[in-house]
Amino acid sequence: MNNRTIALVLLAAIITLSSAFTVQQDNNPNGSSELSLLMRKMEKQLSDARPAVLNGKYKGTYPKEFDKIYTAKPTDNETKMSSYDVFANVYISAVKSFVSAKPADQVDSYNNVVNTCLACHSQHCPGPVGRIKKLLIPN
Ligand code: HEC
Repeated sequence: MNNRTIALVLLAAIITLSSAFTVQQDNNPNGSSELSLLMRKMEKQLSDARPAVLNGKYKGTYPKEFDKIYTAKPTDNETKMSSYDVFANVYISAVKSFVSAKPADQVDSYNNVVNTCLACHSQHCPGPVGRIKKLLIPN
């Protein structure tokens, strides 16, 4: 091999390595999809809020990162059907009304968010439905 060939081989190796690293970052180190990680944050917002909501004392703001629901990559690309964005819109507007709900409306507004989770899940990802239902506040 002459120097030029060696340089080309090295360059090819660097490109291969760096794209391997990029792929690893996209998949998240713990192997969960970007959408799964976001879902866990969405779930946590509700489980964290629940005790305060029960007392009508919840105070919150809209987590800007929830906007990523539209673009976050799912584990399997087939998961998102054409109705996905419609369900996402309904969910996002429910979260926005929940974080600004008056104390007297907090329980209804909170349950409304949970129901929008369930609506999307009944069509897109039935697995966690039982787990999500547990978030509901019985009235
Ligand atoms: C617009 C549709 C949609 C909405 C709204 C939605 N989800 Fe999901 N959810 C999904 C999809 C699709 C997946 C599968 C993600 C994947 O496979 O990467 C998922 C995955 C999950 C998971 C499994 C995450 C994991 O650990 O793998 C949980 C738990 C979950 N959602 C809870 C919720 C909760 C709670 C809400 C409401 C706060 C909610 N979801 C709202 C579509 C939705």
